[in-house]
Amino acid sequence: MNKFITFEGIDACGKTTQINLLSDFLKLKKNKNLIVREPGGTQISEKIRNILLDNNNNISDETETLLFLSARSQLINEIIIKNINKNNFTLCDRYIDSTIAYQGYGRGLSLDKIQTLNSFATGDIKPDLTFILDIEVSESIIRLGGEKDRMEESGMEFLEKVRYGYQNLAKTSEDRFRFIKCMNRDIKDINDEIIHNVKDFYKGALDE
Ligand code: TMP
Repeated sequence: MNKFITFEGIDACGKTTQINLLSDFLKLKKNKNLIVREPGGTQISEKIRNILLDNNNNISDETETLLFLSARSQLINEIIIKNINKNNFTLCDRYIDSTIAYQGYGRGLSLDKIQTLNSFATGDIKPDLTFILDIEVSESIIRLGGEKDRMEESGMEFLEKVRYGYQNLAKTSEDRFRFIKCMNRDIKDINDEIIHNVKDFYKGALDE
């Protein structure tokens, strides 16, 4: 058990809000936890994030994939492994499944190759739990509003493929996935479902 939890979903699905709420819950119970985001979380990874999200950059799908993987590799080596070794919780806003959903299902690159690259970049470190927050694409577009970064500009059809990717991931045999339906639901209600899952999974390992 690595006390490593990731949050996934299409753009503007509410990940950041839910991560902050889970972090508050854990802190209240004196469980130390660190929030990190992808791409980002280290100086180098934040620089890579700027390249990836800059609208002025014309990036090939393969380059895009490798940049996400480079940012991930730096984050895992510089921050996440150390935090796991301290036995603290790590709450990560996106991780390996984002590349499967966005570059695999969204851009149409080989899922097998992405799995191999993910495994290389992370040393096969997987989260204990992965919450996939599901909203409809039309809702995502409304929430995103007018100004979009390079990834958000990929459009509705792209996001539909990404959402489908997440739905498929949730159906795989890996039992770390928790698929949370978030349409027309209160933030608090979603938070309760997440906390219920965390309590259930970590049982003895959680200070309550
Ligand atoms: P964010 O908006 O959740 O911070 O994520 C930045 C964007 O990067 C978002 O549109 C999803 C995208 N992304 C990928 O396409 N592949 C990845 O592997 C990751 C981590 C993010």
